[in-house]
Amino acid sequence: MIEIKSITKRFPSITALDNVSLHIKEKEFFGLLGPNGAGKSTLMNLLIGYLDADEGEIFVDKEKVTRSSLNVRKKIGLVPQSIALYDDVSAYENLQIFGSLYGIKKNLLRAVIAENLNRVQLYERRKEIVKNFSGGMKRRLNIAASLLHNPKVLLCDEPTVGVDPQSRNAIFDYLLKLNEEGKTIIYTTHYMEEAERLCSRLAIIDFGKIISAGSVSELLKLLPYEQTILISKNKATAGKLDLFKLFGTLINEQENYELKPDSGIKLSGFFKALEDNNIDYGSIDINRPTLEALFLHLTGRRLRD
Ligand SMILES: Nc1ncnc2c1ncn2[C@@H]1O[C@H](COP(=O)(O)OP(=O)(O)O)[C@@H](O)[C@H]1O
Ligand SMILES: [Mg+2]
Repeated sequence: MIEIKSITKRFPSITALDNVSLHIKEKEFFGLLGPNGAGKSTLMNLLIGYLDADEGEIFVDKEKVTRSSLNVRKKIGLVPQSIALYDDVSAYENLQIFGSLYGIKKNLLRAVIAENLNRVQLYERRKEIVKNFSGGMKRRLNIAASLLHNPKVLLCDEPTVGVDPQSRNAIFDYLLKLNEEGKTIIYTTHYMEEAERLCSRLAIIDFGKIISAGSVSELLKLLPYEQTILISKNKATAGKLDLFKLFGTLINEQENYELKPDSGIKLSGFFKALEDNNIDYGSIDINRPTLEALFLHLTGRRLRD
């Protein structure tokens, strides 16, 4: 449904996107996971036609996206990374303004606004001015605004930054519901937990390049191990590195030690060695593979700065 073909976007000082190609299917919940500055927002702005690419093309429903393709824009809603609302007017008036910008007919607008306010649980608060809203409420109102024209595709650009945990869960639930109802969602984040929780497929982006793409389980298979042993750095474990290395390879020692067990190693043997050396089991965690670990494996850096 969305075809991103060899997109390159340069700014004067940086190539923000470098030969990016992606195919996003209808009704997919697609994640774009990458650290700050990776090029996620630039790609969102190209998808909705706010920016033009230097090279490459984007098609939505086989129609080419350009800055003047208003028809494509009707199919897409964008929840921008920085909240875009009028602070000094009420929630309701905000949606009136967005609704008329989208050209929604006056006789429909009331019902459309009421429905969208209800769905983000802000109908009761509709008369309050937005300035006094929490970060989470503003974000929910921004989501409502992006859906007034009932687009087929919703782009969400880091919609949980600056949002309290309760609103965050409400946002997740609502996005999953919209997806179930048939909307195609593209969701950018630098939180791997969000990508794992929400997305059916995702791409990992770094320095403007897609470094891998697939479902979470497909991506995790790229890791050369199935689990790692995480060992807290503390008095008991310091100086025991040689002991740990009998069981595997040390792959990380930044905050804690992380050991990739050698194949055939029995964890029972490892725990016996801990016991013999008076190391508390509390210092040890068995880690399942994560996207964070995959990012580290592929780039040598952590996802979060
Ligand atoms: N309008 C712009 N002018 C110049 N540089 C920009 C502009 N927008 C983004 N950039 C740069 O492009 C890179 C990618 O930015 P962005 O797409 O915002 O990344 P992300 O959303 O993944 O954090 C960054 O280095 C950023 O500074
Ligand atoms: Mg961004």
